Amino acid sequence: MIILGIETSCDETAAAVVEDGRHIMSNVVASQVNEHSVYGGIVPEIASRRHVENISQVTEAAITDAGITLSQADAVAVTYTPGLIGALLTGVGFAKGLAYSSKKPLVPVHHLRGHIASLYLGYPSLTPPFICFVVSGGHSHLVEVKSHTEFKVLGRAVDDAAGEAFDKTARALGLGYPGGPAIESAAKTGNRENYSLPVPHTENPLDVSFSGLKTSVISIINRAAANGTELSKSDIAAAFQHRVVEMLADRLIFVAKERGLPAALCGGVAANTALRDRAEQLAEDNNVKLYLSGRGLCGDNAAMIASAGYYELIAGNTAELTLNAYASRDIETG
Ligand code: KG4
Ligand code: ZN
Repeated sequence: MIILGIETSCDETAAAVVEDGRHIMSNVVASQVNEHSVYGGIVPEIASRRHVENISQVTEAAITDAGITLSQADAVAVTYTPGLIGALLTGVGFAKGLAYSSKKPLVPVHHLRGHIASLYLGYPSLTPPFICFVVSGGHSHLVEVKSHTEFKVLGRAVDDAAGEAFDKTARALGLGYPGGPAIESAAKTGNRENYSLPVPHTENPLDVSFSGLKTSVISIINRAAANGTELSKSDIAAAFQHRVVEMLADRLIFVAKERGLPAALCGGVAANTALRDRAEQLAEDNNVKLYLSGRGLCGDNAAMIASAGYYELIAGNTAELTLNAYASRDIETG
C-alpha cells in the first residue's frame, strides 16, 4: 500500500511517499530553520506563510521522486496535531484538497505517533511492544508502544520539553538557534566537571524536568557577569547536556529493563550523539535491545507521517473532509 504523507506542524514543510509503512520511496523536506534562526526561535506567522508557499512544490517533488502519480497512492496522511495551529492548518487543508480531488482516504496522524513510526523505517522487523522516549522540541514523552496505534504515556516533561530546554539554554548562552545542535557542538570541547548542575527530581520517577537546569545555567551566567569572571560556554554546554542525557537515557533503559521490553529513542533530540552513546552503553550493560531513529529521520519529516498513516489506515482510522487541526492533543487518544 502506498501512502503520501504531509507534515507542516512546525518549521519544516515536508511530503513523502512510503510503501507499506516501511519503505521510503521519496522524502522531501523544505526547512525554514535559517529564516527563523535570525529571530532566535520560530515565528509562527512566518512558518504558516512559508508552508503555504512551499507545500505544492514539496508535494509535487515527493510524488515525482517516488516515480508515481497521485492516482497510485492509496491514501493521503497528514499531521493534524499537535503543533502550531496556523502551520498545521496549511497541511490539513492541502491534504483535504488532495484527498477530495483524487478520491483517496484522508488519514489524520498525531505528530508524536509519527516520530515513533520513524523507527519502523529504519528497522524493517521492529514491531511493538517496546518502550520509546519521544524527545522533540515540544514534547518529552516516555511511551509504552503497545501496538502500531495504541500508546500509553508512562512519563512526560513536567515543565520544558527536552528540545525546548536545549533551545532556551543555548539562547541564554548566546549559542544561537536551534539550540540542540549548537549545545552539542559547543559541548564537544567542554569539560563538564567545571560546572556543577543539580540533578532534577520529579514526583513521578518516570517524568522528566529540565527547567531547573536552564535556571541554574542562567544563574551561572548572571553571577559571572556580576563578578566580572570569565565564563566557559563549552564547559557549561557539556555540563547541561550531560544532565539532560543522563535523565533521558537512564529512565528509558531502566523502564525497558523493568518491563522486559526493547527500548527506542526518536524525535529531534534523538539526533544527539551523547544521548545515543549513553543509551547504547546502558542498553548493552543491562542487556536491553535498543532501537535508535535514523539520524536523518529524527527531525520533522513526512516519511514518518506516511508510515504512521499506513498503520492508522489499516486500523480503520480515517477522517472526513471536515477534519480540523488541533494545537494540542494527547498521543493516547490520537
Ligand atoms: O522533532 P523536532 O524536529 O521538532 C518537534 O517536533 O519539535 O525537534 C526539534 C528539537 C529542537 O528543540 C532542537 O534543538 C532539538 O530537536 N535538536 C537537538 C539536536 N538536534 C535537534 N537537541 C539536542 N541535540 C541535537 N543534536
Ligand atoms: Zn517533531
